[in-house]
Parts: sequence; structure tokens; C-alpha cells
Amino acid sequence: MKYFIKTFGCQMNVHDSEKLAGMLENLGYVSTNTVNDADVIVFNTCCIRDGVEQKILGNIGALKKLKKKNPNLIIAICGCMTQAEGRDKLIFEKFPFVDIIFGTHNIHLLKDYITKFNESRKKIDDVWEKENGIYENIDIVRDNMFSNGWVNINYGCNNFCSYCIVPYVRGRERSRQMSDIIAEVKSLVDSGYRYVTLLGQNVNSYGNDIDDSDVNFANLLKKVAEIPGDFKIKFMTSHPKDLSQQVVDTIKSNDKICKCIHLPIQSGSNAILKSMNRKYTREHYFSLIKMIRDAIPDAYISTDIIVGFPGETEKDFMDTYNLVKEVRFDGVFAFMFSRRSGTVADKMENQIDESVKKDRIHALLQLSKQITKEKNKEIVGKTVSVMAIKNENNECITQTDSGKTVVVNAQLKENVFYNVKIIKFINNKLYAELV
Ligand code: SAH
Ligand code: SF4
Ligand code: F3S
Repeated sequence: MKYFIKTFGCQMNVHDSEKLAGMLENLGYVSTNTVNDADVIVFNTCCIRDGVEQKILGNIGALKKLKKKNPNLIIAICGCMTQAEGRDKLIFEKFPFVDIIFGTHNIHLLKDYITKFNESRKKIDDVWEKENGIYENIDIVRDNMFSNGWVNINYGCNNFCSYCIVPYVRGRERSRQMSDIIAEVKSLVDSGYRYVTLLGQNVNSYGNDIDDSDVNFANLLKKVAEIPGDFKIKFMTSHPKDLSQQVVDTIKSNDKICKCIHLPIQSGSNAILKSMNRKYTREHYFSLIKMIRDAIPDAYISTDIIVGFPGETEKDFMDTYNLVKEVRFDGVFAFMFSRRSGTVADKMENQIDESVKKDRIHALLQLSKQITKEKNKEIVGKTVSVMAIKNENNECITQTDSGKTVVVNAQLKENVFYNVKIIKFINNKLYAELV
């Protein structure tokens, strides 16, 4: 019996899918990459923007013919989209061939749902309104051996940015115990993982819900970095309102911690930031960039931006554009504002035309592309740490901590870190030689 899982959305979902896979393998299913071969299909969904929801609905629709061919096929839909209000009813109405729907708070029950469905062949609709703690001891079947192991540190979000659906579909912030996190990282390192990525919607608020002042993100980073072994630590996402000097100093003083910080600004306009409920200003953001670069001059800083938030004027947008130009981010992820029902921004007046959003995102992406090109030229001559991925012909394809591909003119041991010197940048590709 075979299972096929399709994941939409962010790293949270990618990692949740590894837990779903663990439960299915416990039941004796084996994985397949071909949806047509599967006896169980699970879609782990996202609802961050309308575009992704529409795509998912299209993808579910396409499963109809598979169910027709194989009436024993089990189709289960879970994740953030099914957790959003009314979506379970909508999916069952539109797609009566779906068998099981559950939400984000009860993914640990997939095993029970499959067993129950196999016995009764009765549809299951189980979306919990409230989160109910943290579930440890779920077997995890990880996707990418060696390259990266995901480790949850906190679940949910308390920030209620006015555009965002995540707090509604992921519940309030809950931090895992430090001892559980450390034990998980240790076991990953012992089994050969070279990167671990600590995951939270806002890693900087790790421990706020635990009554012990020693339980905070800086201390967690320190403890994880003390684990022996040849591995590196990444983390995401950092909220600008909570990033502290203590965290930056910890990143600076530990070789094991990657110097990569994803720090979403969302907008460069103070009026829009206020309306987004982000709780920081453009000036504060600049001071964080200075704090990071003073401590770690070569830090890789990336960001998320939303264009076309309700009420965004041309001047507001130019504030964002000019901020990007000034900060010179290493990576920019830009999105057009999408109305999410139930959020504050959905009810705001002055919604922006799609054509204006398109023009703005286009301008931002052009700028960001230009900056990336300049930055790639600037690193020629510098020495960077890379991990060898794959030998090809007489070269080795490697990756920097931030995920940039670098071609090295030597055969290297795969899954091992090397220091290399960047020698040229041509046709958007970086080339290096071994140091
Ligand atoms: N917890 C993370 C973000 C998770 S969502 C943080 O606070 O940074 C990932 C990104 O999706 C956000 O940073 C934001 O840029 C974008 N996003 C969220 N809601 C959106 C919406 N309604 N429309 C467009 N983009 C949105
Ligand atoms: Fe959404 Fe804001 Fe929470 Fe990030 S911090 S998940 S953008 S509400
Ligand atoms: Fe992630 Fe999408 Fe949910 S971005 S938290 S999978 S809504």
C-alpha cells in the first residue's frame, strides 16, 4: 500500500508533512512519488493568499478521476486551509470524493483517521476550533537526509498582523520545552544532518509562554550550538519587533550558527506598518540592520514585503522601494496583498487595484534582481563556506549557508563543508576554487 503527500505553503507545512509521512509509515504504507500509484493521498494545504487556495482547489478537483479509477483510494485534506472557517464544508460540497478532512491542531491523529476510515468507509470531518497543546513523540520521516532537518521550536502566533490568517489557523503561541528541542537536534546530528533549521512564526518570542527567564531564543541558540558535531544552525522567522542585541551577539559568537537572518519588513512606510499592526517603525528597522551589520558585516539579510496593502499610496510604496534600495537586501520575497476573510485588513476601505499591485511588485522585483546581481559581483574574491551537494563531470555543485549555488572546480566529498574562494560570476552563476 502506497501513500502520496502533496505539501503547499511554508516550512511549517513541509515539516508537518514529514510527521504525516511518519504516521502513514507506522501503518505500513510506503511512499510513492507518483500520485496515480497511491492508495492514500494527503494534501497538506495553505491559505496565506487567495492564489494558493485557488490552486489547491484546482489540484483537489483533479483527483476525481483517480478516485473513479480506484474507489478504494483514500483522499485526505488537512492543513491551514481546512482550518480556516467554512473550508471543510466547502471542500466536501465541491468535491464529494474527498474522504477525510482535519485541521492543523490534530495532525497527530492521521493514523486514527485512516484506521477508522478503513473500517467504516464513513467520511471524517474533524477540524478543532482550539489548539490543544504540543504533541511530542511523533515519528518523523524526513525528506532530505543530510541537507536539512526541520525542528519546531514554537507553534502558532500571537501577533495578529492585520493582513494575516496564520494566527487564526495555527492558534496561539506555544513553545516546546528546551530539553525536547535539544534532544531532537542531537539525534539529527548523530544521524548525519549537516543543517538543522529551528522553526517558528516568530522565533524571537520563543519561551515567552514558559515561566522561566532562562528559556529564551538567545539561550536556546547557545545551547543548540553547544551540541558537539559538524553541523550548522539556521532559524526562521525573526519578527523585527522582538529581535534583540543578545540574539545578534549569540549569532555572531557561534561558528555553528549561520549568519543568515530573515527579517520581514512588510512595508517601508510608517503609516502602513501601523495599519498592518507590525509594532515597529521604519527607523527601528534601520537600527536593527545597523545592529546586525555592526556585529556581523557579512550577514545575509532577507525580507518579505507586501505591496498594495489597503491605503498604500504611491509615496508609501516609494518608502518601501527606497528602503530596499538603501538596505540592499540579499533576498526579497514580495507578495501582492491578498484579502483574507476574518482578518482586519479585509474590512479596510481603500483596497488597491490589482493593476497597481502588479506594477509595484514588478518594480520591486526588478530592483531586487539588480541588487542581487551587484552583490554577486561583490563577493568575487571572497572566501565562503559551502556544503558539497553533488559531483558532476569535473566540478562539484555546492551551496552556501544561504542557499546560493556555487560551482567548484574540484571533486569534493558530498555532504561535507568546505571553504572556497569565489573566482567569478558569469551568467548569474558563481564559480569558486578550493581554499
Ligand atoms: N511569521 C512570518 C510570516 C509568515 S507568512 C513573519 O511574521 O514574518 C509569510 C509571508 O506571507 C509574510 O511575511 C507576508 O509577507 C506574506 N503574507 C501574509 N499574509 C499575506 C496576505 N494576506 N497577502 C499577501 N501576503 C501575505
Ligand atoms: Fe502572520 Fe504577523 Fe504572525 Fe507572521 S507575525 S505569522 S505575519 S500574524
Ligand atoms: Fe504556512 Fe500557509 Fe499555513 S504560509 S503557516 S502553510 S497558511
